[in-house]
Amino acid sequence: MVPCMLGINLSGKNAFLTGVADDGGFAWDIAKTLQAAGAKVYLASHPRTVSIVERLLRRPQSAESRQLPYGVQGELAPAALFGCDVAYDTAAEMPEEVKSQKGYREEDVSIQGAFEKYRALSGGAPVDILVHSVAFSPEIQKNHLETSRAAYLMAQSISAYSLVALTRAALPFMKGRDASVVGLTYLASERVVPGYGGGMASAKAALECDARALAYFAGREAGARVNLISAGPYPSRAARSIGDIQVMVDHVKERSALPRAITSQEVADTAAFLLSPLASGITGDVLYVDCGYHVMAP
Ligand SMILES: NC(=O)c1ccc[n+]([C@@H]2O[C@H](COP(=O)([O-])OP(=O)(O)OC[C@H]3O[C@@H](n4cnc5c(N)ncnc54)[C@H](O)[C@@H]3O)[C@@H](O)[C@H]2O)c1
Repeated sequence: MVPCMLGINLSGKNAFLTGVADDGGFAWDIAKTLQAAGAKVYLASHPRTVSIVERLLRRPQSAESRQLPYGVQGELAPAALFGCDVAYDTAAEMPEEVKSQKGYREEDVSIQGAFEKYRALSGGAPVDILVHSVAFSPEIQKNHLETSRAAYLMAQSISAYSLVALTRAALPFMKGRDASVVGLTYLASERVVPGYGGGMASAKAALECDARALAYFAGREAGARVNLISAGPYPSRAARSIGDIQVMVDHVKERSALPRAITSQEVADTAAFLLSPLASGITGDVLYVDCGYHVMAP
């Protein structure tokens, strides 16, 4: 039964989601919203966070957090949860010291390994939806000038190239499915946000460029769409690691067209729209969910 508040029907669709590490980030709400709209959700989380997510999915204290939105009965209950480190396309690329860590030594958690796992767990089901909700820089607190080459390149690899790699791996599962890919970006790709360091702004600029290129290549190869959501600041775990995220939230709140902070549910709703047939003509685009902050003069 599709809830009228949501008004989006994703029944019969399979969603492969990256970026769920806890219940405080965008991906958690996107997963719940896609499930509420009828999709079957597969979570491919960072190998070191799989056990945290497992606990959140079963412990009684998190029942409220698992509750589906829009009054839809039920809790977030993914069809499967498995590890995926988007820094590696194949297990062969993984250094031995990484392979020996907890979460890595048990199975192949490269992108290729995660899609093989998906194939096995879903019984070879197609992928209709791919969500990229991943970002990382080891030097996020260093400003652009101080960022090392290694950190800059790692930010590009994990936060931008991973969209290319995940889309490439998903495409064989997407053919003939009106499939759709959504990723998360941030305004620092086009404006200077001094506190957003570690090469992350450049990674977001690359991500936006990649999304346009992928819209063309995935569109021609598999009829798939690729879009990004540029979200306003939100105090997730990743955002808290930047520094005082609340200062950023308050700054944006004061200056936005709508003078308030965004909610994670607003990002999830936009993702559900972009991932649904309602957005069938939209690809290669960036949709801003920032209460209109980006249209304001400084
Ligand atoms: N929170 C904000 O203010 C904000 C604003 C705009 C865009 N975004 C973007 O939204 C997306 C989700 O971030 P969030 O704010 O929900 O925080 P989050 O901490 O919930 O999500 C970041 C995710 O990236 C994952 N990750 C990091 N390195 C990885 C790797 N090597 N392999 C697999 N997963 C890895 C983490 O495990 C985590 O799940 C990111 O792309 C972020 O840049 C966030």
